[in-house]
Amino acid sequence: MNNEQFLSVASQSLLGNYRSAPVVFTRGKGCRVEDVEGKKYLDLCAGIAVVSVGHCHPELTSAIAEQAGRLMHISNLFWNDRAIELAQQLTKRTPFAKFYFCNSGAEANETLLKLARRYHFEQGDKPRTKIITALASFHGRSMGALTMTGQAKYQEGMGPMVGDVEHVPFGDLAALRAKVDARTAAVILEPVQGEGGVVSATPDYLRGARKLCDDAGALFMLDEVQTGYGRTGRFLAREWSGVLPDACALAKGIAGGFPLGAVGVTERISKGLPPGSHGTTYGGNPLACAAALAVLRIFDREKLVENADRIGVHLGERLRALAGDPNLAAAVEARGIGLLRGLSIAPAFEPGALLAEIRKRGVLVSIAGGNVLRFSPPLCVTADEIDEGLAVVESVLREATPIKAAGSRS
Ligand SMILES: Cc1ncc(COP(=O)(O)O)c(C=O)c1O
Repeated sequence: MNNEQFLSVASQSLLGNYRSAPVVFTRGKGCRVEDVEGKKYLDLCAGIAVVSVGHCHPELTSAIAEQAGRLMHISNLFWNDRAIELAQQLTKRTPFAKFYFCNSGAEANETLLKLARRYHFEQGDKPRTKIITALASFHGRSMGALTMTGQAKYQEGMGPMVGDVEHVPFGDLAALRAKVDARTAAVILEPVQGEGGVVSATPDYLRGARKLCDDAGALFMLDEVQTGYGRTGRFLAREWSGVLPDACALAKGIAGGFPLGAVGVTERISKGLPPGSHGTTYGGNPLACAAALAVLRIFDREKLVENADRIGVHLGERLRALAGDPNLAAAVEARGIGLLRGLSIAPAFEPGALLAEIRKRGVLVSIAGGNVLRFSPPLCVTADEIDEGLAVVESVLREATPIKAAGSRS
């Protein structure tokens, strides 16, 4: 079947909740993917910052196959060797003392929310239930994570939201100070707002937020679902500010494309979720954890975090050059860090049309925050691949004609 035939079946049999582009992928290798008609694409999106070691890395593929032939699932009624090994590895690579495993970013953030409340409950501080997150944040689609998400469009028609969650403007320490009080269980922030348009928090903001929480007896937590696992050129983005959160949510790149989420916590709050208080059937299943262990081995051998740092600098320079080009009216501002970068598009241009044209010319990127082309390639991407992809982006931007009067509201 070709793309069109698959799409026709999809429209009859899939729910229709996604705005997927009209192309059906069937295979991938490294930074390249291929659709069902054999057309090849350079993937600078990586399944939204997930395919950390590149598509179908042979070591990851064989680790999954080997584990699938040994033990796939046992549940948390018992222990399994792979989850224990992974937790131990992560405690060595991060400042966190204990780990919890789940299946997605939303679930990891649900865990942050529940952990924050339950921790204070266990301390005998029952009124401390308020959760503070940022406007323009994205934390996932389940009800708790959706409530934490500071973007009304995702909540439309889904109310009522979970109670006692408040939002503050991102980056505004005074606004945060005005909200954090003796009822605050936790402040939860992304170090870089990915879905919000690739907007970085300054180190001072994160350090200030940490201090406000300390002074008020609240917990400070980071959602590193998009920024974690080498994406910004550090294993965790928190390293750029030196801030140590009480807990941190991870997912996306952790198992290279296999579904897995995690929460790391410091020793201090590690008793916050007592036995029976939280869990999930698949969480920490041996198959996902074997994949995550293979990802760590590949990270080490291929020095992928270092590569993300180095190639990320190159990507940033190239994007700044596009943004600074006076003949490129569509490109406004280069943002982000490491291999999580964005190029904001002038209001007179239609980002969706630019994205589609870039895709037609064989390069995959995504849109964040409505008007930002987001670049989140596999961490193994090379400078040549970045140059190849950006040459296409540049040609599309150069040929783009404004379709809206600048400043118009539609
Ligand atoms: C920062 C952040 N948190 C949470 C999520 C939700 O993760 P998932 O889609 O795996 O539930 C995302 C997804 O884009 C994210 O970027």
